[in-house]
Amino acid sequence: MTDHQETPDAEGTTPSGSATLPLQPPCERLSCHKSSVCSRSYFVVVMVFFHVYIINVIALLFYVHYSSGQEDASRSRDAPSSAHQRPESRRPPSKPEFLRDVSLTRIEGIRVGHVQRVSLVPGKVHEMRTLSLKPLLFEIPGFLSADECRVVMQLAQLKGLMESQLMVQDGQEELAKELNLSPEEIFNLLDINQDGQLQLHEILTHSRVRDGIWLTPENLREIYAGLKADKDGNGLLSLEEFRLLSNDAFQRFLLQRGVKRSQLVRNSRHTWLYQGKGAHQVLQDIKARVTRLTRLPPTLVDLSEPLQVVRYEEGGHYHAHHDSGPVYPETACTHTRLAANTSTPFETSCRYITVLFYLNSVEGGGETAFPVADNRTYDEVSLIQNDVDLLDTRRNCDKSNLRVKPNKGTAVFWYNYLSDGRGWVGEQDEYALHGGCVVTHGTKWVANKWINIDPDYQRQARYQELVSQQQEEEDDEGLTLNPDIQSPDIHQDL
Ligand code: OGA
Ligand code: CA
Ligand code: FE2
Repeated sequence: MTDHQETPDAEGTTPSGSATLPLQPPCERLSCHKSSVCSRSYFVVVMVFFHVYIINVIALLFYVHYSSGQEDASRSRDAPSSAHQRPESRRPPSKPEFLRDVSLTRIEGIRVGHVQRVSLVPGKVHEMRTLSLKPLLFEIPGFLSADECRVVMQLAQLKGLMESQLMVQDGQEELAKELNLSPEEIFNLLDINQDGQLQLHEILTHSRVRDGIWLTPENLREIYAGLKADKDGNGLLSLEEFRLLSNDAFQRFLLQRGVKRSQLVRNSRHTWLYQGKGAHQVLQDIKARVTRLTRLPPTLVDLSEPLQVVRYEEGGHYHAHHDSGPVYPETACTHTRLAANTSTPFETSCRYITVLFYLNSVEGGGETAFPVADNRTYDEVSLIQNDVDLLDTRRNCDKSNLRVKPNKGTAVFWYNYLSDGRGWVGEQDEYALHGGCVVTHGTKWVANKWINIDPDYQRQARYQELVSQQQEEEDDEGLTLNPDIQSPDIHQDL
């Protein structure tokens, strides 16, 4: 709020200096050399000027008060005003203001292969190489030291890793029942190109999202044969053929036949390491370095997800995916959902940036693949064509436009969203599609630092406001109860 600041300033300087004027006749204050100066008309003129002056000052104060009130209400960050450019020290500590001026830095890629030197730790210079422009993707060798990699892996092991994906995901059936969709309606949803037939890729995409089971075109043909689904044998499902299948026919067939871990979207184990106060110094250092690297406001990095540490055994993989969801009006970000007072039916992760660290050098395979990096165009349908599925990182990593080899200590980072052109998060960047190729020899350890930002600026602002209020309350309680709890080196939160 700017009004509280300006009001006392204005009152304190201007009017008080002139306030003595009307109380004393001007003649008493000035030594009168000319009688005309002391005349009544002169006094009237001075008084008129004085009143006009006072009215102007009052009008100005009203203007400042109401215009800043409106800005608060509309949270306009696009129109920089002079009030916004005042120095930090003059800013009152009022909360709604703190995101107002934020413009997110986006590091420039210049061109593929361009190298920029960055200063991230004292006494060391890192080289940051542009790997692609679509998505905007960089590689920084030696971002973590060998010791830091070791500590992160040890902390993860100490905490324990869990399966990244459960074998069969429940709850989808209930959702379908709840929505009460007819077979025609489901068929229509699946028929992306609306040609009245279900092509292989239309079914494959659906199965991956629905059950997390990664079907190959051969798997699907096997299922069609087992269920006698494709009666005319043309490789497509018509509405008539689709109607004869029960809702969960595919799933039941697969469960009977058995699903292996290698047939899931993701075959790895992972855990989360908190990086806030009290966390291991290495984890806090990594967070600080990520803040320097991305040049984003520290609060945004602080309020992001913890560090995710992932371990792939030999044979492990992660098929191509987006770390972050698209921006639809009916979708809310997971991280700001509680603060947003809207009830949207869908929820997605909003991860503006992914920073991926390689914690070891992998003996064989395990590259990170970007199937469509710097492609001239992006066409979802052509990702699966003629039995070649570019999303399949067990089979087709060699056909990806870009592959990054895992090297201990190297970090890669990319933007999952474009800019909105006004310093905030824009549309999802479809080219940010990526996956972990199958590990052919040894194990692979990586860590992900995701930086969460809501593309809806106001929701992000409201979320930060809420968190800072909560933190203040916690700090107050902490101080009255036991000041030691606040000390960062008392407990080490993994
Ligand atoms: C991820 C991911 C890629 C890799 O964990 O989200 O995309 O190379 N990992 O492991
Ligand atoms: Ca179709
Ligand atoms: Fe990912």
